[in-house]
Amino acid sequence: MLSNTYTSRTSNKAMTFFVCFLAALAGLLFGLDIGVIAGALPFIATDFQVTLNQQEWIVSSMMFGAAIGAIGSGWMSLRLGRKKSLMVGAILFVIGSVWSAIALNISMLIAARIVLGLAVGVASYTAPLYLSEIASEKIRGSMISLYQLMITIGILMAYISDTIFSNTGAWRYMLGIITIPAILLLAGVLFLPNSPRWLAAKGDFRDAQRVLDRLRDTSEHAKRELDEIRESLKVKQSGWQLFQHNRNFRRAVFLGILLQIMQQFTGMNIIMYYAPKIFEIAGFANTTKQMWGTVLVGLVNVLATFIAIGLVDRWGRKPTLILGFLVMACGIGILGTMLHITIHSVSAQYFAIIMLLIFIVGFAMSAGPLVWVLCSEIQPLKGRDFGITVSTTTNWIANMIVGATFLSMLDILGKAVTFWIYAALNILFIVLTIILVPETKNISLEHIECNLMLGKKLRDIGQK
Ligand code: BGC
Repeated sequence: MLSNTYTSRTSNKAMTFFVCFLAALAGLLFGLDIGVIAGALPFIATDFQVTLNQQEWIVSSMMFGAAIGAIGSGWMSLRLGRKKSLMVGAILFVIGSVWSAIALNISMLIAARIVLGLAVGVASYTAPLYLSEIASEKIRGSMISLYQLMITIGILMAYISDTIFSNTGAWRYMLGIITIPAILLLAGVLFLPNSPRWLAAKGDFRDAQRVLDRLRDTSEHAKRELDEIRESLKVKQSGWQLFQHNRNFRRAVFLGILLQIMQQFTGMNIIMYYAPKIFEIAGFANTTKQMWGTVLVGLVNVLATFIAIGLVDRWGRKPTLILGFLVMACGIGILGTMLHITIHSVSAQYFAIIMLLIFIVGFAMSAGPLVWVLCSEIQPLKGRDFGITVSTTTNWIANMIVGATFLSMLDILGKAVTFWIYAALNILFIVLTIILVPETKNISLEHIECNLMLGKKLRDIGQK
């Protein structure tokens, strides 16, 4: 009897991990598509003889698609459910990857990148939401950080495959190889259970109970969680209506927007998209060195994400976030200063790279994963789809702004000032975090919702 209980608990745990791992595979594709373009672009530019402006379009068409995808997936995941939304995302990934690899001209490539963007938008919206609804509160933070880990692994894999294919300039292979994980995701998603919270919100309590029984370690735990969900469903408004009539919900939406703006304006993506260029600025003229330097950036990004996974549910979201912003401000601020006094010696060059890597560590251990964690935790159930749609769309719009302004900022303001501005923003984010961001570790989503709706200060909505 005892061993039976033990086996079923162990298999429940294994089931939870399988489910979370699969949803996180969506993150891998997100990362692959962010990372792949950096290395492919120069070869595409030569093949199709594109202008600078067209190159910008090739890059930003994906972020445009992602913003649209994120908006659409709010509606879709409410109507069809999280599982079917992930399936739609996976199908779009497959179509977009094949299409971009066989594109005959620039318009086809841009159209294919918009489709990929739609997929990334759906994935970046649905996967963290699904994860936060599937994982129990003890491991919720780590599970969503696992999703971020998969994004960083995707970026790294794309950098490595770009570097390997760059010998022959085979950009079609760089883009096409992403079809393989896309098919894997599609196959895996078929086996995922529906989200218990979504089932309950539809009134399907029996199925919600069945899924929870398969995922939680004890049936009491499953029952307690279903009761909590039932309780929070008593608030009978949803999404847009809630936003119009409920000030407390508007505060949560505002916090989600702010968190995503903070994440993007740390400046992380200027490095993700332009790492080879930054290596060049720091004095590394050789292309091979720039490509491998970029791989190193990707690797550090992956490794430092483990720090977040370890800290998020133990140390908490808020102190980790504050430390991360501080580390980023120092890294990018000192890098700016070095560019100001100009880099002459080889040792100064390497010191500059170390500062760049320190910045990456700061992001990966904090804002990278934690913003996704917090955005999925702070919204009340009835408005969760709407709230996360707004914050995820903000992520992509801010991402587009940062990506599209970096080169002009370098040109108009100069390198040092550009980096100093990002350092100053990171300092500002420390202040905003202290004033506005709640600590949400070890507290159930229903508790957070209750505090929010009682009108507690945003920074206090995670208190027991
Ligand atoms: C961000 C992306 C970023 C990635 C880097 C994600 O959390 O949303 O914009 O490129 O982290 O690891």
